[in-house]
Amino acid sequence: MAEYVLSVVEGVIANVMSLAVELIESVRVFKDELNTLLDSSTKIQALLRAEKRQKNDIVMSIWLLKLKDVESLNPIPKISLDWKTDSFIDGSEVVGRGDDVLEIVNLLIGAKNQQDIPVIPIVGMAGLGRTITAKLVYNHELVKKHFDVRMWVCVSEDFDVERILREILEVLNNCSIGLENKNAILYHLQKKLKGKRYLLILDDVWIENSEKWDSLRRSLLGINQNHGNNIIVTTRSDNVAQIMETSLRHKLEKLSEDECWLLFKKKAFANERIPLDLEAIGREIAKRLGRNPLVASVLGGMM
Ligand SMILES: Nc1ncnc2c1ncn2[C@@H]1O[C@H](COP(=O)(O)OP(=O)(O)O)[C@@H](O)[C@H]1O
Ligand SMILES: [Mg+2]
Repeated sequence: MAEYVLSVVEGVIANVMSLAVELIESVRVFKDELNTLLDSSTKIQALLRAEKRQKNDIVMSIWLLKLKDVESLNPIPKISLDWKTDSFIDGSEVVGRGDDVLEIVNLLIGAKNQQDIPVIPIVGMAGLGRTITAKLVYNHELVKKHFDVRMWVCVSEDFDVERILREILEVLNNCSIGLENKNAILYHLQKKLKGKRYLLILDDVWIENSEKWDSLRRSLLGINQNHGNNIIVTTRSDNVAQIMETSLRHKLEKLSEDECWLLFKKKAFANERIPLDLEAIGREIAKRLGRNPLVASVLGGMM
């Protein structure tokens, strides 16, 4: 019976996974896809509950039959779709990524910079943890010590140079500003960044042509040409990394199976003790999550 459950779960997870990835890739989320995602998760939830409740195979069979008939077992939960990121992080939530962070921190601190403003792209598919890794780097003690100023801007699909510059200034001022004039923004940025060594994070960059990047780069160079400034971009695209003319690419890999299980468990069971049979089935499920932390996190959280 457990094997039958797993084969059902496997199909559902394959669905949820591709949907989850599409969801995060797309700012415009389609309602139907979202409903399918949540519906699939609800089914998995029910399956796991069935597993928890399993007194014998008959109970389980009834549950599985119900799953076939009933459209939705629970009211569909509402999730907020706010993709705008910030630099804040609860480190205790993170599983793994220590090596990635150390590698990037060393690049930032140790490098003899050849370029005017070196750019380190963190590249990987959606949901892999590029943003979370950038956050860990941004908040690393050595990084805080090394840079005079750190700035986080969520770029997303719209690479609007003036908006990005304005947001940098807002971060530096700790408040929103009414400035609409690019020249005025640059003037204030120059005053704020004079003599300062900075780290700028551009989270989630999608540009596919070099003009906008050139424009931002020229503006930044006009503000301050200190050696030791650094930019980190997170992107899913190798093209973006190429456009930004970088050599030091950091490719993010999937989690290990163990890490994936740890994350799933953390989200699903918090600090509860897990019965052995449930652990076995949980590990099996985790194996089928494609070692993708977003999927482990979303599904675990819905258990
Ligand atoms: N190593 C990890 N440990 C814990 N949670 C993670 C980890 N990697 C990613 N997540 C979670 O998965 C989701 C997607 O991560 P994120 O960093 O936004 O991915 P990306 O920027 O690559 O799309 C977030 O909810 C994040 O908290
Ligand atoms: Mg991201």
